[in-house]
Amino acid sequence: MCSKPHSRGGGLWVCHVTLSTLAPSGRALGVYEGQAQPGRASGGPSRSSFPPSVWPSAAFRALAKTPAALALNKTQHCKQLEGLVSAQVQLCRSNLELMHTVVHAARQAMKTCRRAFADMRWNCSSIELAPNYLMDLERGTRESAFVYALSAAAISHAIARACTSGDLPGCSCGPVPGEPPGPGDRWGGCADNLSYGLLMGAKFSDAPMKVKKTGSQANKLMRLHNSEVGRQALRASLEMKCKCHGVSGSCSIRTCWKGLQELQDVAADLKTRYLSATKVVHRPMGTRKHLVPKDLDIRPVKDSELVYLQSSPDFCMKNEKVGSHGTQDRQCNKTSNGSDSCDLMCCGRGYNPYTDRVVERCHCKYHWCCYVTCRRCERTVERYVCK
Ligand SMILES: *[C@@H]1O[C@H](CO)[C@@H](O)[C@H](O)[C@H]1NC(C)=O
Ligand SMILES: *[C@@H]1O[C@H](CO)[C@@H](O)[C@H](O)[C@H]1NC(C)=O
Ligand SMILES: *[C@@H]1O[C@H](CO)[C@@H](O)[C@H](O)[C@H]1NC(C)=O
Ligand SMILES: *[C@@H]1O[C@H](CO)[C@@H](O)[C@H](O)[C@H]1NC(C)=O
Ligand SMILES: *[C@@H]1O[C@H](CO)[C@@H](O)[C@H](O)[C@H]1NC(C)=O
Repeated sequence: MCSKPHSRGGGLWVCHVTLSTLAPSGRALGVYEGQAQPGRASGGPSRSSFPPSVWPSAAFRALAKTPAALALNKTQHCKQLEGLVSAQVQLCRSNLELMHTVVHAARQAMKTCRRAFADMRWNCSSIELAPNYLMDLERGTRESAFVYALSAAAISHAIARACTSGDLPGCSCGPVPGEPPGPGDRWGGCADNLSYGLLMGAKFSDAPMKVKKTGSQANKLMRLHNSEVGRQALRASLEMKCKCHGVSGSCSIRTCWKGLQELQDVAADLKTRYLSATKVVHRPMGTRKHLVPKDLDIRPVKDSELVYLQSSPDFCMKNEKVGSHGTQDRQCNKTSNGSDSCDLMCCGRGYNPYTDRVVERCHCKYHWCCYVTCRRCERTVERYVCK
């Protein structure tokens, strides 16, 4: 925690250091953390402009925009939530105490998606744009596969975490593992209640795909599959977490429990699966139609892979019909050789330099005990945007 420099304090930042900010699991914030999002007229699309099949992009966007002031403590409030199919409104009524968590999960999913794709041509911004920008998410593309998986993971993650923090009256900590802990460790703390998160999250996420008459069967199967992949990635993120005890942090005794990784770590895992996603077709296999890999290899779809039905555009040029915003004016990195490099980001069109001033904390000094003072330094950096 750092406080802004006081005008009288000679531009000193003061940061109080706690153990948790020093923990190895602590991560640097993404570079896009403080960046303003392009402003858009509020009001949003009306409920009727969404076919119910477009969860989570519609429901999530609507939920993420739910004003903080909206009370969610009466069943009548469920009707005020936009974008939900009737089965979800029903779930809302019977699990009202979950709804704050679901709304929180929607916000987390959007933020996490944008962060995970900040360095890509497709940067997840369409998750909150007007309906006519939705093609990238509604066509059954690789991008929509990622969004469905992440959304399903986000809901279950949020519910499991809410159990741990005691925010949900209806659930408690997860199980104490059956195996013995490591030497010097003991089980304790409060494990994330993953099974409850998965159960309730799946009910909520998958409800629209179970609606009979809407959307194509292939799309629904794709969404269900990818949501399950998201939950699988969440399951895989369960890890042992420990807290040290002992004289002055000597860590002679540790209390350990099973906890979920942060959603952004789950998103990183899903992004890897996005990059190697499999194109599938809806084809009869045996007595029913299934999603099977489009390429010649005859094998069923794996439980661990994200699948998509439609190829994506290259997202280089603006083309609203296919949901591409183009990369004109996107920032690129001249020294990177990854997806954010100017070559790849700008699709070979070239880029324009501009100078930017950055203010940062510098000359930081640690004082015993326990705070850090820093100076405030300004420098100019050259940045580049795509032509
Ligand atoms: C419901 O929420 C509103 C606004 O947050 C609050 O004023 C009201 O007292 C709450 N009602 C109950 C029954 O908790
Ligand atoms: C998780 O929460 C559910 C719902 O309250 C509860 O029934 C279950 O016992 C909890 N799981 C464990 C392992 O305690
Ligand atoms: C994401 O891409 C859109 C369209 O190219 C752009 O307008 C927006 O500024 C980008 N967002 C970020 C955070 O780079
Ligand atoms: C550009 O990429 C390089 C190499 O990956 C990295 O070290 C640097 O921090 C990046 N610059 C910006 C502004 O993101
Ligand atoms: C970038 O280049 C370095 C050195 O040539 C290489 O080790 C690294 O794997 C490359 N990264 C990517 C993303 O291509």
